[in-house]
Parts: sequence; C-alpha cells; structure tokens
Amino acid sequence: MKISKLHPIMQLATAATLALGLGVAAQAEEGAKLIVNGEIEMVTRTAAPAYIDGLDEIISGWEFRSTETQALQMDDFDNSGMLGVDSALEAWNKVQGPEQKSCATCHGDVESMKGVRTVMPKFNEEANDLWTLEDYINNCRTERQNVEAWGYTGGSMTNMAALIAVQSRGMPMNVAIDGPAAPFWEAGKELYYARTGVLELSCASCHEQSYGLHIRADHLSQGQINGFPAYRLKNAKLNGIHARFKGCVRDTKAETYKPGGPEFHALELYVASRGNGLTVEGPSVRN
Ligand code: HEC
Ligand code: HEC
Repeated sequence: MKISKLHPIMQLATAATLALGLGVAAQAEEGAKLIVNGEIEMVTRTAAPAYIDGLDEIISGWEFRSTETQALQMDDFDNSGMLGVDSALEAWNKVQGPEQKSCATCHGDVESMKGVRTVMPKFNEEANDLWTLEDYINNCRTERQNVEAWGYTGGSMTNMAALIAVQSRGMPMNVAIDGPAAPFWEAGKELYYARTGVLELSCASCHEQSYGLHIRADHLSQGQINGFPAYRLKNAKLNGIHARFKGCVRDTKAETYKPGGPEFHALELYVASRGNGLTVEGPSVRN
C-alpha cells in the first residue's frame, strides 16, 4: 500500500517501522518549569497563534527532553552552549578589518541586541529580501567591518547568533508574517507540509501530527526554533536553525536544501511563526 494513503499517524508508524523504529507513545510531561539561573522565567507552553491550524497549544522542545537534559539548560554553568557565547563575546569586541572596527565600535555593549532575536527572520527593505539573524551578522561583517563573511552554519556564526539570542532570553518570539513577509511565510508553509523523500514525510507528519511519540531513542517535539542555537549533546557544539532543518530533511531520505538558501529562509520564518509566544531560550540544550 502507498504510505501516503494512510492516516498520518499510521503513515508515520509505517514509515518509521520501515526506516526509523517507532517506540511507545508518550506525552510531554506537564508541570515542569524552565527557569534559567533561578531568574529567567521561560514560557514553554502556550496557546497556538490563530493562523496555525494543526495545533491548539505550542510547546518548547525543552519539555520533551529527559529530566537530566532539562537540568543542563537551567543553569548557565551547566549549559555547555555558554562556552560558545563566551567566545562570541570576544569576537564582538575584537577590533579588525581595514578600518579597525569591532561590533562594539558601532553597537556598543551587546545588550543593545536585546529583542533582536525575537523578530528574526524579518523582511529587509533595502535588500528587498527576508533576512535571518545570520544575514544581518554577515552583512555587518562584509559591508561595515570589511572582513570576510562567516560560513552560514560555521562555529563563529552560530556562536554569535547564540550571544545575540542570549540578550533576548525570556522574551516571547514575535516574528511578523504580514506585509512584505507574507509571500515568504506562504512559501515556508508550503514547504512545511510538503511530503518529500522515499518516506513521503513532511515536517508536519512528525512535528504536528506525531509529537509526543518516541522515535528511535528520541522523543518527538513540535520542532520549534525558539531554543536556537541549540547545544546538542550528540555533536557537542552549538547548532544553528538551518543545520537542524538539514538534518531533519536528510532523515526523511529526501534531497535537502542548502543552509542559507531561499527555501530554508522561508521555512525558518514559517517555523518561527509557529512558535510566536514561546520565549527565546537560545542557547538551549538538546540531545
Ligand atoms: C560600522 C558600524 C557597524 C559594525 C562594525 C557592525 N555593525 Fe551591525 N549594524 C550596524 C548598523 C548601522 C545596523 C543597522 C541598524 C539598524 O537598522 O538598527 C546594524 C545592524 C545589525 C544587526 C541587526 C539589528 C536589528 O535590529 O535588525 C545585527 C544583528 C548586527 N548589526 C550585528 C553585528 C555584529 C555581530 C557585528 C560584528 C561582527 C556588527 N554588527 C558590526 C553597524 C555596524
Ligand atoms: C521522521 C520524523 C521527522 C521529520 C519528518 C522532521 N523531523 Fe524535525 N526532528 C525529528 C526528531 C526525532 C527530532 C529530535 C527530537 C525533537 O526535538 O523532536 C527533531 C528535531 C527538530 C528540531 C529541533 C527542536 C528543538 O527544540 O530542539 C527542529 C527545529 C525540527 N526538527 C524541524 C523540522 C523541520 C522544519 C522539518 C521539515 C523540514 C522536520 N523537522 C522534519 C524528527 C523529524
């Protein structure tokens, strides 16, 4: 039988049995609270935005982690992602390029980046395009600092994205999806629901219709991005949003898109909008 003819859950079960190994259903544990350093209160569960059809409630990926992994994100001393943040702070203050400028020369203290992460990605008028946090960072490097662009998913870039995210921790995600951002949002939505690969799975097959289930040794979340960059225990480094998307698409045995490319830009806006109302957690800690 063709997998796509089945009910989504059965379809996932079938596909997963074929290729991934599906485990016992489980619900995200309710009641656990994420308070970082005993002071930053996170919203890890709230009502879904009205424009999201498939979910009533949106839930941070943190809720789907084991108690041990959850604990690593509750104190910056235990969160290895903070090492990347520290090294980005050095980069922030590093004077370089022909004009001998650092990020701080123009932006001052990095606290000036407060709130920036909550609205990314956003439409950039001048470029007439949708820009992610990474695009803003690289634009400042190449056009204002006159130094080389960082690799889109490279360590320096992801660390800097984490440093900037930290300034917004505890603030709700609030990306705009209307006006000039609307066509990007529509394109992202289409990608989110498109079934791809041999397994004919979409992002929604796993993260909308099947969250709460166990897949391989993992517990399926809603695939939210409010926690990015995410420190993954699996590869012991900070991981950016497009790197994560790439891994997920590859797992469905589909051709993946290029990190930093137009498809993942649109997808990032759509996925970010599904988390509007959840608080910025970056850097989070995940498996
Ligand atoms: C020569 C001055 C200059 C330097 C150096 C510079 N920037 Fe910028 N940056 C700007 C200006 C001007 C803007 C646009 C301001 C605005 O629109 O609010 C901007 C915008 C940004 C934004 C988007 C902010 C927003 O609210 O949309 C980010 C993020 C950013 N810069 C990060 C960096 C980082 C990281 C570095 C160092 C690698 C850096 N910048 C270096 C001048 C600079
Ligand atoms: C076969 C099932 C499957 C599909 C299809 C899938 N993912 Fe995932 N995804 C996972 C698993 C498993 C994880 C790790 C556990 C978790 O957080 O759900 C994950 C994690 C994520 C995360 C990290 C969440 C966090 O809080 O750290 C994001 C973001 C994500 N996926 C986005 C996507 C997007 C976008 C698509 C579509 C392009 C997609 N995924 C397709 C299985 C899938």
